Amino acid sequence: MAKMHISTTINGEPTEFLCDPSQSLLDVLRDNLGLTGSKEGCGSGDCGACSITLDDRLVCSCLVLAPEAEGKKIETVEGIAQGDQLHPLQKKFVEFAALQCGICTPGFLIASKALLAKNPNPTETEVRFGLAGNLCRCTGYDKIIRAVMEVAAEMRGAAR
Ligand code: FES
Ligand code: FES
Repeated sequence: MAKMHISTTINGEPTEFLCDPSQSLLDVLRDNLGLTGSKEGCGSGDCGACSITLDDRLVCSCLVLAPEAEGKKIETVEGIAQGDQLHPLQKKFVEFAALQCGICTPGFLIASKALLAKNPNPTETEVRFGLAGNLCRCTGYDKIIRAVMEVAAEMRGAAR
């Protein structure tokens, strides 16, 4: 099958790749481009472990065909930190022990960042609703929710 040539921007870097027309964006990120932060939990849109943003819209990259990335802007977990400086969400996940095995963590970070970009002052219910598409088999969610609430407060300059 003829490969398709795709031009996109990933974490601020213009990026080109060749892919099969039926290849998922998740597979291209992980297998072709070595961006293995995004995880495959289910491959069917149910777990959120593969979450990325595509033109600032939160999507499951396992459900996106790689050719759909043409001309679009992608953010993966690899783009969250600024050099050595972790993003506040990354710092707070570590501080609050909001991860155990870590498989779900990249997806939670991307989904939380997208949530706070849309709603910088979420209620706990809104955070739980906003992250409902991300499954975790380990943490029981409370630490994740508290970490996100704390970052939201910090980013509003209202940290305790
Ligand atoms: S791997 Fe994409 S939603 Fe589970
Ligand atoms: S920390 Fe293991 S699945 Fe969430």
